[in-house]
Amino acid sequence: MAMERLQKILSASGVASRRKCEELILEGLVSVNGKVLDTIPAFADIDKDTIIVAGKRIKPQPKIYFLLNKPQGVICTNFDPQGRTKAIDLIPTRQRILCVGRLDIDTTGLIILTNNNELVNRLTHPRYGLTRTYIAEVKGRIEGEHVEKLNKGIWLAEGKTSHTAVKILKRGHKRSLVEISIAERLNREVKRMLARVGLPVQSLKRTRIGKITDHGLGIGRFRLLTPAEVNYLKKTTADKTL
Ligand code: URA
Repeated sequence: MAMERLQKILSASGVASRRKCEELILEGLVSVNGKVLDTIPAFADIDKDTIIVAGKRIKPQPKIYFLLNKPQGVICTNFDPQGRTKAIDLIPTRQRILCVGRLDIDTTGLIILTNNNELVNRLTHPRYGLTRTYIAEVKGRIEGEHVEKLNKGIWLAEGKTSHTAVKILKRGHKRSLVEISIAERLNREVKRMLARVGLPVQSLKRTRIGKITDHGLGIGRFRLLTPAEVNYLKKTTADKTL
């Protein structure tokens, strides 16, 4: 682990939220190698430095990785002023975990949660372009020309969608079912690209993250990622050590 912002280290170690940890630093309650650091920014290395908060030594937390099958009505943020159910509320752990990216409140399916902030940053960075797969129920009849347009790339406000693979699962007059795999980069990308070709999404479910699948995980249930799955995620994003 390299030098990181002190408040980030403290919050990842379960001391408190990042904002509260900033306050603790500014109040002079945090020392690094015997020296009180009471200004921001302040940096430390959790693996090398002795960090003490209000008399208590902070140690690196073991890294933990969950896969949640998110139900509708649950949000992917750690703070919600409206008090809605958060994905982290569905996982009983004392570790400060974060969602890797976001699913919309009405989207169901797989989301990874972890306290490995570095991995969160990498997996959400467009550079790594990990493929996510979704099943979308859309209004209208999907035709070959829709598939062609989607595969070619759709212009959205921030740029063109790319690396898309589309498979028709069911074609009806009023509704169709389509599987879309995409190296996701943009916010609400799947709904927006389908809307652009005239197929508004009625419901959306994420079924795969790269090679990671649910293995029969029920809706609202979670499991730990296997060591092989964690290694796969690290390898996919590896150009530094994690
Ligand atoms: N794309 C969307 O439009 N919504 C999601 O929740 C995920 C991907």
